[in-house]
Amino acid sequence: MRKTFLKALGSACTLSLLLSGAALADHTVKVGVIAPFSGPFAIWGKQFKDGVEVYVAQNGETAGGHTVEFIYKDSGGPNPSGAKSLAQELIIQDQVDYLGGLVFTPNALAVAPLIDEAQIPTVIFNAATSSIVMESEYFVRTSFSLWQVSEPMAQWAWDQGIRSVVVSVTDYGPGNDAQVAFGSAFEELGGTVLDAIKMPLQTTDFAPFMQRIKDQNPDALFAFLPAGPPTFAFVKSYNENGLPDAGIKFLGTGETDETNLQALGDAALGLTTAYHYSAAHDSDLNRAFTAKLEEMSPGSVANLASVGAYDGAHVLYEMIGAVGSDRTKAVDVVRGMEWESPRGPVSLDPVTRHITQNVYIRRVARDENGVLINEEFETIPDVPDLGLMQ
Ligand code: PHB
Repeated sequence: MRKTFLKALGSACTLSLLLSGAALADHTVKVGVIAPFSGPFAIWGKQFKDGVEVYVAQNGETAGGHTVEFIYKDSGGPNPSGAKSLAQELIIQDQVDYLGGLVFTPNALAVAPLIDEAQIPTVIFNAATSSIVMESEYFVRTSFSLWQVSEPMAQWAWDQGIRSVVVSVTDYGPGNDAQVAFGSAFEELGGTVLDAIKMPLQTTDFAPFMQRIKDQNPDALFAFLPAGPPTFAFVKSYNENGLPDAGIKFLGTGETDETNLQALGDAALGLTTAYHYSAAHDSDLNRAFTAKLEEMSPGSVANLASVGAYDGAHVLYEMIGAVGSDRTKAVDVVRGMEWESPRGPVSLDPVTRHITQNVYIRRVARDENGVLINEEFETIPDVPDLGLMQ
């Protein structure tokens, strides 16, 4: 009797083990991606999705035996309350275990309390104000921060003999970081910031700002605007208002974003930026990335968004592969993780959970086919988020 009971118990256990094994193996882990898919910044959502899909095509649909399902939600542009509602919907209704995406700083800040409470590891594919990652231990960032790229730009400008600048930034988190990072580094070196202009996020007419810059006759202008229609209009305005002819050099970060670059035409030639990724980065991995992107989505160009999402998918796969939906331990799995990205060698800082990476000084040039590219000509290796080191 006892023997039969034990045998029955044994097979019941085996069955339940088998079942749980099967359930584990078949378990689909869901990742919610919040990004603009409509409105003036809709290109960001497409670039994120393309980046994730290239990663999935190269690495398969499973991580550690778990099928990974990406669910995309349209946040439009900077929209903190909308982003928060979408995160709520993804967590409660769609039952996602992880989140990703987030272009705009205010949107990322708005989801921080939610991911903290629900313990949802969230990989930021873009939002680039330094302090965001301090708002929740569940944030990991695979993009860049304005501080990370603006401080090296100040050093490079000084080394070129530039001694006076006007700083002109969009008036919100990343713009403020760019202004303080560039301005303080440049002044510490001995340079002069003649003026710091804060431009409203909604601005579409940059002519008055260009006049104000021109009137002060600086050696250079240093700018930050969110990539998309604002950067495009700003660079056009810089040219149309005669700043290059007045000898005012253009220094920036993402203003020569690849998705707008060809449309800028010759006006973009010579613009100098400090950034973490160029579609023209010279590596086999980047060539494989851009070729796959072109194959899967003809005409699509790689930019900061697609590489942020591609590397974001990699981090999500590492977490899911190690812990599946037992997500409370997921962030610890990737602290200190190192890998090669299409942008170059990168790692995740074990404390800040922000990506450490090379910063490249680039100049817009034409390649051998006449295509405008961000040509990297100087590398500052292994730069952490300098804003979090203050
Ligand atoms: C941000 O809101 O953090 C942001 C948006 C667009 C960029 C960079 C930063 O190009």
